[in-house]
Amino acid sequence: MPLADAFVEPGSASEEFTYQLQVAWCRTCGLVQLTDPVSPARMFHDAYPYTSSISTVMMEHFRTLATETIARLDSTQDPLVVEVGSNDGILLRHIAARGLRHLGVEPSESVARVADALGVTTRRAFFCESVAKEVLEEHGPAEAIVAANVISHIPNLSSALAGVRHLLSKTGTFVFEEPYFAAILESTAIDQIYDEHVTYLSVGAVANCADRHGLSLVDAVAQPTHGGSMRYTLQRAGRRSPSPRVAEHLAREAALGLKNETTYGAFKERADLRTRQFRSLLEDLCARGMRIAGYGATAKSCTVLNYGGIDARLIQCVYDSTPAKHGKLTPGMHIPVKPSRDFCKEYPDYAVLFAWNHEREIVGREREFVALGGRWIAYVPDVRVFPPSL
Ligand code: SAH
Ligand code: TYD
Repeated sequence: MPLADAFVEPGSASEEFTYQLQVAWCRTCGLVQLTDPVSPARMFHDAYPYTSSISTVMMEHFRTLATETIARLDSTQDPLVVEVGSNDGILLRHIAARGLRHLGVEPSESVARVADALGVTTRRAFFCESVAKEVLEEHGPAEAIVAANVISHIPNLSSALAGVRHLLSKTGTFVFEEPYFAAILESTAIDQIYDEHVTYLSVGAVANCADRHGLSLVDAVAQPTHGGSMRYTLQRAGRRSPSPRVAEHLAREAALGLKNETTYGAFKERADLRTRQFRSLLEDLCARGMRIAGYGATAKSCTVLNYGGIDARLIQCVYDSTPAKHGKLTPGMHIPVKPSRDFCKEYPDYAVLFAWNHEREIVGREREFVALGGRWIAYVPDVRVFPPSL
């Protein structure tokens, strides 16, 4: 597989980096993870193109999380808020705007620069145990550590959790949210599996890993973001007993078969079937002379395109709102990426919703496409065309 966010410059002479994408499940701790993770420095750097603030729904989501984080702080104590993977400052901008002590830890210069301009103090670094110790030394303990869609990006989860344990104040909380493995399993969201997602977290696995680092999982709350996420709250072990929600999620995960090997084999079979169905739909439509485009040059789409061998013969181009992706080609399959503002100038007959996790926002905004006869294609949780043709 190529790297999901390594968009290619047309005519570029250098060969694309590829790696073996393979997922495994650990019988002992329950963690689902990539067997051969790619070095983080290859993925997160000055040309990293993903900016969090591309979605108004996500902006609102993180504004609310910032408000909830602030509400838990004791402002008389001059508390410190640390965010791991602060990206373009989508969350910390609200903490900074309140004049609170804060620090973002973010290795990708491309996005950290955007956060700087919003007044967010950002340390260019990969969060790990040693960086956490340096932050502790310089700023003192953190009353709140927050992270979203980044803990699953860190190959050395143990080092990250050890870092949290060092940096967290005695009364502090570590709140993080990640795509939820049970949701990936239930919706057969094979496209969530790619280089940046090293671990696929569940309540059971997080509880086990936290235990090993003197932390305990005290709450887990499902989130609608990114197709189904889970927000975990960790505290130093022994501070408070877990919410009943934790046991409820654990029971549900057992009922879903997360502890059975057969569950994982069945997932692969469903994923293969789904990919074949998706490809044959595209082939049928192309054979009927239909013009098909993609919407959202997502990192997720890299897996489904490359696994399914779907290239520019089937999907002519992909529209996306991220300037850094415009004029480039999608990794591996080399489908041209165009600005989403061009979509309405040249509506295709069908548009594949690669950013399916932003369905409401995108389909709501692009109503004219359907009004003029266009149809969306989705492939999660099933291959479907909507609205159905009359
Ligand atoms: N929190 C944001 C960004 C998620 S994308 C959101 O939910 O939208 C993941 C971000 O984590 C990227 O900006 C990437 O550069 C950063 N990242 C990757 N590994 C990291 C690490 N070890 N420590 C801190 N940030 C990391
Ligand atoms: P997203 O699904 O958030 O994540 P990932 O890349 O990790 O799979 O991807 C968002 C992509 O979709 C990003 O490249 C921007 C694009 N996008 C649009 O083009 N228009 C939109 O309205 C939204 C919400 C996203």
